[in-house]
Amino acid sequence: MSPAITVASPLSIAESLTEFWSPHIIGEVDDSYIKVAKVKGEFVWHQHENEDEFFLVLKGSFEIQLEGSTIVLAPGESVVIPKGVLHCPRAEDECLLLIIERKSTLHTGGVASELTKSIEQQMTPDVTPGE
Ligand code: NI
Repeated sequence: MSPAITVASPLSIAESLTEFWSPHIIGEVDDSYIKVAKVKGEFVWHQHENEDEFFLVLKGSFEIQLEGSTIVLAPGESVVIPKGVLHCPRAEDECLLLIIERKSTLHTGGVASELTKSIEQQMTPDVTPGE
């Protein structure tokens, strides 16, 4: 049997999220997950030793602090943070993101933080049904 083919609306799913920095998996492409997230404030400094990380801003303004510089992204802009590069995402105001990363990627990298969410948690919508 073929897998189900479903149309997703990343922007509206991201808008429905209720918890900041808690990525939600909306699909998969081979060995990568497609995720959306609602973010505000500063995340944690971390790196992914073996995985690149793709960010696309759906809404709002998003910054990625690097050692010695900061990338600022407007809606519709994207960036790939290469494996091994230390980074710290940040958003002054609420911002909606689409993220693509390999399934093995821990979103807080090697850093265990109170913000760290397991893949299981990222599969579970934190939205109230019917909202
Ligand atoms: Ni990262």
